[in-house]
Amino acid sequence: MYGSLVTVWTGRRPTIVIGDPKVACDLLDRRSAIYSSRPRFVVMGELFTNNDSLLTMPHGDKWRKTRKIFHSGLLRRACESYKPIQEAESQRLLRDLLQMPQDFGRHLERYAASVMVCVAYGRRVDDLDDSIVQRIYERMQYMSTLNVPGAFWAESFPLLKLVPDFLAPWKREIKQRAAASSRLLLGLAQDVRRRMNEGDAPPSFTKNLWEKFDQNPGELTEREIAYATGSLFGAGSDTSSSTLMSFVLAMTCFPEVAAKAQEELDRVVGRDRSPTWSDEPNLPYCAAIIKETLRWRPVAVMGGTPHASIKDDYYDGHFIPAGTTILGNLWAIHHNSKYFKDSHEFVPERYLEVQEGTEPYPHRDGHSAFGWGRRICPGKLLAENSLFISITRILWAFNISKHVDPVSGAEEVYNTFAYTDGFNSKPQPFRCGIAVRSDQIRETLEREAKLGDRFLERYN
Ligand code: HEM
Repeated sequence: MYGSLVTVWTGRRPTIVIGDPKVACDLLDRRSAIYSSRPRFVVMGELFTNNDSLLTMPHGDKWRKTRKIFHSGLLRRACESYKPIQEAESQRLLRDLLQMPQDFGRHLERYAASVMVCVAYGRRVDDLDDSIVQRIYERMQYMSTLNVPGAFWAESFPLLKLVPDFLAPWKREIKQRAAASSRLLLGLAQDVRRRMNEGDAPPSFTKNLWEKFDQNPGELTEREIAYATGSLFGAGSDTSSSTLMSFVLAMTCFPEVAAKAQEELDRVVGRDRSPTWSDEPNLPYCAAIIKETLRWRPVAVMGGTPHASIKDDYYDGHFIPAGTTILGNLWAIHHNSKYFKDSHEFVPERYLEVQEGTEPYPHRDGHSAFGWGRRICPGKLLAENSLFISITRILWAFNISKHVDPVSGAEEVYNTFAYTDGFNSKPQPFRCGIAVRSDQIRETLEREAKLGDRFLERYN
């Protein structure tokens, strides 16, 4: 409504909200050296994590060092080593969907959580009630209460963080929770250390960091290892499962898209094995579905954690002072009619053919679901691999259909805008039909799931 660059003033502090992908790429990608810090998070950043969590860390040496740790553990070569986990977990996901299709939301969550815990700590999640997952979820939930605008005066008046603890019960509670949170993350990292000493630790991000710790004592601290790995689950689990939920919603509401993908899968893969990584170059329509899912309903509706600038700058005649908060409004960007016609329709063809009457998207991915510049999601490749293997296999194995009322026979009516509130958003719970496509596929799926179980044994 207000254009591609909007300024909102909170007292004397400006926040810029970007609604055009070109402006976002011009500022956040091309001038990344200026726009890659984070705004000050007094409560969640400074008091709760001592700014040891990458997500809220301001630009600077500590951020550069932590970002390097992430890159080394999530580079293409490292991601290759995680592929067998994603493959085996997706086999388990298909069997869960076959046996209890009505619980698909829970299965998708378990799949995403297990991939992340395996990658982070080298141990899998068989059930979402797993005590580690519960404790990590509890920590994440508490953290989300710390970031609610207006919840803490200290966010507007940072000097309040200096008030002595005995006069500030709110601060005492945050510090107690912070200590418990450190114990949890250090305990998880030390558990990997113990398993390494016993010769029983499968490859993981934490193991990799402990090896670096041993090779170059002094380069990393235990706390840095614990907090780096601790950020992985929070940043990677919900985002991946929410994207998968949007995918299922899209397939329910746009069945003609799933039918086209199945034609491609039958032609390229057949029915006596499920799709795998080597099929990727031959599955362009499936790849386009993944991109369209990330565009159609981006999880991080406001672009994830806000960026902040570190230097005065001018853009298109506007002055942008240092310290400005910048939000890439992904919802507006991905539904900007200059780039996407009928943007709320689910049309993978956007990524395969030139679209008349629209401008080319200014980023080679064709969307910005993973953010921008030096802050771009370091888990992008891992997430894309998780999405590829699960989405192609679900399409290969199942027909997804609208829920039909067993009494009246009426088809459910869906609202594709019914999403949860918050910075990360996912579809409100919905029902749909998920049925295996043929007996031959059922047999293949059950056979492959057994192989997956065997592979995952070492992660139990
Ligand atoms: C579909 C899945 C995912 C989506 C849509 C997603 C999206 C995002 C977005 C939008 C940002 C903010 C980027 C910016 O500030 O410009 C981000 C940051 C981040 N993501 Fe992801 N992400 C996903 C999966 C993952 C995974 C699997 C991991 C870990 C392996 C991960 C780790 C992180 C971290 C640590 C950051 C903070 C980076 C920083 O502040 O420097 N994400 N992600």
